[in-house]
Amino acid sequence: MTANGRVDATVPHWGTYQNEIYLAGLGGEIPRLPMTYAELERSAQGVLGAALTSYIAGGAGNEQTQRVNVTAFDRYGLMPRMFVKATERDLSVDLFGMHLPSPLLMAPVGVLGLTPPGGHGDIVTAQAAAATGVPMIASTLMSDPMEQVAAALGDTPGLFQLYTPTDRGLAESLVSRAEAAGFRAIVVTLDTWVPGWRPRDLAHSQFPQLRGHVLANYVSDPVFRRLAAGAGADLDDPRPVAPYWAAVFGNNLGWDDLAWLRSTTDLPLVVKGVCHPDDARRALDGGVDGIYCSNHGGRQANGGIPAIDLLADVVRAADGAPVIFDSGVRQGEHIIKALALGATAVAVGRPYVYGLALGGRDGVAHVLRSLLAEADLLMAVDGYPTVADLTPDAVRRVTTTG
Ligand SMILES: Cc1cc2nc3c(=O)[nH]c(=O)nc-3n(C[C@H](O)[C@H](O)[C@H](O)COP(=O)(O)O)c2cc1C
Repeated sequence: MTANGRVDATVPHWGTYQNEIYLAGLGGEIPRLPMTYAELERSAQGVLGAALTSYIAGGAGNEQTQRVNVTAFDRYGLMPRMFVKATERDLSVDLFGMHLPSPLLMAPVGVLGLTPPGGHGDIVTAQAAAATGVPMIASTLMSDPMEQVAAALGDTPGLFQLYTPTDRGLAESLVSRAEAAGFRAIVVTLDTWVPGWRPRDLAHSQFPQLRGHVLANYVSDPVFRRLAAGAGADLDDPRPVAPYWAAVFGNNLGWDDLAWLRSTTDLPLVVKGVCHPDDARRALDGGVDGIYCSNHGGRQANGGIPAIDLLADVVRAADGAPVIFDSGVRQGEHIIKALALGATAVAVGRPYVYGLALGGRDGVAHVLRSLLAEADLLMAVDGYPTVADLTPDAVRRVTTTG
């Protein structure tokens, strides 16, 4: 949006993706990649194999939380407005000093490097970020070091997600590497200092990190190398490193750690996994710059509350500070509803991983462009020309679902 509140005609018109598809159809070409989430999930799981499917698709307990994360969106309905002339739309948002072409982000996913094809899914995802302008939140758990991933982002900004290790020196080293690599914010995940109870993964006895996978940021880190070598680990063989990694992985942070965490970086600091408004307020009062409202896609704690139902209260508590939302976003409609409920930006998890599995960079780009095209066309039809127009008045609670 321009300073005078008008739509900037130079911003991407995400909805034109459908024109590309229909026009290609005139030449006899139909989309190679799925157009519905159900088909995307089904096809991707066909190429991922059983163990990776369980790691990506599975959640905690009987997976009730991850199911309701998605279905809860059906209890919100969008209100169409007429005589608006939303002929041009502007989905751009400002976040931590970045002007982004859309409110969509890629949530951190620590298994991209294992997702076919090729074993370099973190770099391939960064290339998709470069191609689409949708920022990647790069996980601590990667198969290639963060510096190489950052280099593939092109002009698109990246954010770095930190799993805070028990050793403060290692945490500080990871953060300073992220700063040096050009990441634009540090996102600290609070809800995963221990893995949740995940029956699907347990049934395969499969936890990738314990097999030495996705540890590139650790084995390339000078502090980790010093600590692991001191403990007798063979750094050239990732498998023996894994037990040492497990020992330093998860720091169960308390409020008394927040001042230190804040002191680790001058970059914007965001805390991920915050669902209670009191926690949001206290974290902001303690110096963080933004809140990431998420229940980890239902992977960590079952028996929870749909994340979308928690968003509005967190936004109120944040009192104008940026709030990123994820968990359960499967369609463009979900992005619009989360924005109307007050999110500043919305992240997507599993869907882009399935795009990666099916089509590498182009597969990720297809998923992101489809989500944004649907969001853009909803804004067109329902009469909301800019993200600022998506206020709580744009959604109503509905009691019936189809
Ligand atoms: C396979 C997988 C790995 C994940 N790894 C991480 C991670 O490394 N760091 C993190 O903060 N969140 C991680 N997440 C959680 C996502 O960032 C995000 O919160 C979640 O996927 C959102 O839910 P959704 O998949 O339903 O969209 C992971 C999620 C999945 C599916």
